Amino acid sequence: MTTRRAWRIPSAGSLERLAQVTEDLPPPGEGEARVCVEAIGLNFADVFACLGLYSATPRGAFVPGLECAGVVEALGPPRASGESAGTTLAPGDRVMVLTRFGGYATALNADTRYLVPLPETWTMAQGAAYLVQALTAWYGLVHLGALAPGQVALVHSAAGGVGLHAVAMARATGATVIGTIGHSDKLPLLEAYGLVRNQVVVRDAARFGAQLDAALAAIGASHFNLIFDAIAGSFFRPAFERLAPEGRHVLYGAADFMPSGARPNWLRLAWQYLRRPQFDPMTLIDKNRSVMGFNLIWLFERADRLPASASAALALNSAPPHIGARFRFDELPRALRTLQGGRTTGKVVVEV
Ligand SMILES: NC(=O)c1ccc[n+]([C@@H]2O[C@H](COP(=O)([O-])OP(=O)(O)OC[C@H]3O[C@@H](n4cnc5c(N)ncnc54)[C@H](OP(=O)(O)O)[C@@H]3O)[C@@H](O)[C@H]2O)c1
Repeated sequence: MTTRRAWRIPSAGSLERLAQVTEDLPPPGEGEARVCVEAIGLNFADVFACLGLYSATPRGAFVPGLECAGVVEALGPPRASGESAGTTLAPGDRVMVLTRFGGYATALNADTRYLVPLPETWTMAQGAAYLVQALTAWYGLVHLGALAPGQVALVHSAAGGVGLHAVAMARATGATVIGTIGHSDKLPLLEAYGLVRNQVVVRDAARFGAQLDAALAAIGASHFNLIFDAIAGSFFRPAFERLAPEGRHVLYGAADFMPSGARPNWLRLAWQYLRRPQFDPMTLIDKNRSVMGFNLIWLFERADRLPASASAALALNSAPPHIGARFRFDELPRALRTLQGGRTTGKVVVEV
């Protein structure tokens, strides 16, 4: 038995309920490895989970957190089913870990099928910043979105964690990217990622359509072939209306629904829900375009597909991810509130 520290929430509903606990961690079970965690990667979905706005959130008490990086300390007995994934692991290996909750801890037992070797030159913080967001970008842009060279992609929240991966992967594919951001202070980072000023839209809900037209005109295009959208809300329709025939609008989040306080304002959420984007699916046929959606949690349940998906994402963009903010383990709730505020860039990482 090992002792660990973890951030636990007795039930979803408020960020204020997160409390640090010291607890026993049993030895790793069949097909598991005990990982000594050195860095934890935060995801926007963590905030939704703590607020109780994420459908995959466990009932009752749980430790949030979908990914981390650390060192394998011990291995449990091999899986009885004889599945080989993960069996090449040994104590001392540096790994990136995907976990369906449970990542906010100084040690955890993880299914070995969800451990990916940390690239040799990467830091632990970079490892904790990679899997969820890079897989999301790869799955949405490449696997579902079939982005091709010469196409034009609109990437919302382009300076965020998923967004920066999407920008890099779209450019590596040979596509031209137009990125949107909420605040102009994120511009220099996107310039460092290869976008010129007129390829970046600082979103203004009152004139978003005109902003998109200007950005398209600046690159000599009239329509998007792919829209990568985790905001939805009032920004959905102006973008959707500029989708080319054969275009794909890939929806994978709804940041517009993010409450600003420690707990949801249910009245405001109900109002936003009533005003959510709606359209007639029959028009998709006439205009020859598609709207798609996905949730990476689905891929979490397909462990067999993880190694190939992670390799494909790394092959498309092997640069270490951008860490926008670092916090100490004791500061984890503050790190979450910072991410919730919408002003961070790249990944928010908690170092243990
Ligand atoms: N479907 C899936 O499987 C999946 C997997 C991973 C992530 N996601 C979704 O992908 C999105 C990006 O995730 P991430 O972890 O990389 O986060 P992130 O992009 O680093 O941070 C979220 C960003 O959302 C934007 N935003 C728009 N409206 C907002 C609001 N009302 N309040 C706060 N922020 C707002 C902000 O950027 P700008 O203002 O610059 O746009 C903010 O920085 C999230 O919506 C997340 O839920 C989905």
